[in-house]
Amino acid sequence: MSIKWKSEYSVQVKEIDGQHQNLVVLIDKLYIALNENKGKRILANILNDLIDFGVYHFATEEKYFDKFNYEFAEEHKKIHRGFETKLADFKKKFKNNEIEVSFELIDFLEDWLLDHLITADQKYVQCFTENGLK
Ligand SMILES: [Fe+2]
Ligand SMILES: [Fe+2]
Repeated sequence: MSIKWKSEYSVQVKEIDGQHQNLVVLIDKLYIALNENKGKRILANILNDLIDFGVYHFATEEKYFDKFNYEFAEEHKKIHRGFETKLADFKKKFKNNEIEVSFELIDFLEDWLLDHLITADQKYVQCFTENGLK
């Protein structure tokens, strides 16, 4: 099973679509690594990449929220902070051997992060495009 980018994820902004595509690739990489029984270190690296992704990606979106005075900025930022907490928590638990990278964990990441693209992220499309992003 693999995870693919879908056109419904598009937010009509090249820069952000590119970042979201990186996210899809990362989750897919985690799937493949687990399928191939890759070692813990490789799984840890991908988990780290996911955390790094959160840092730069959320910063990109939030930069535009502030710039364009996006009306739902506060609630959207709160969701991002929740993701960061959750990802950091995964990392900590993984390091302490409290959890394993499993298909359940990846399913969870997939549902949760990709769902964000088609719910919260879609809401800013109008604001961003009206302000000239493409
Ligand atoms: Fe996003
Ligand atoms: Fe977002």
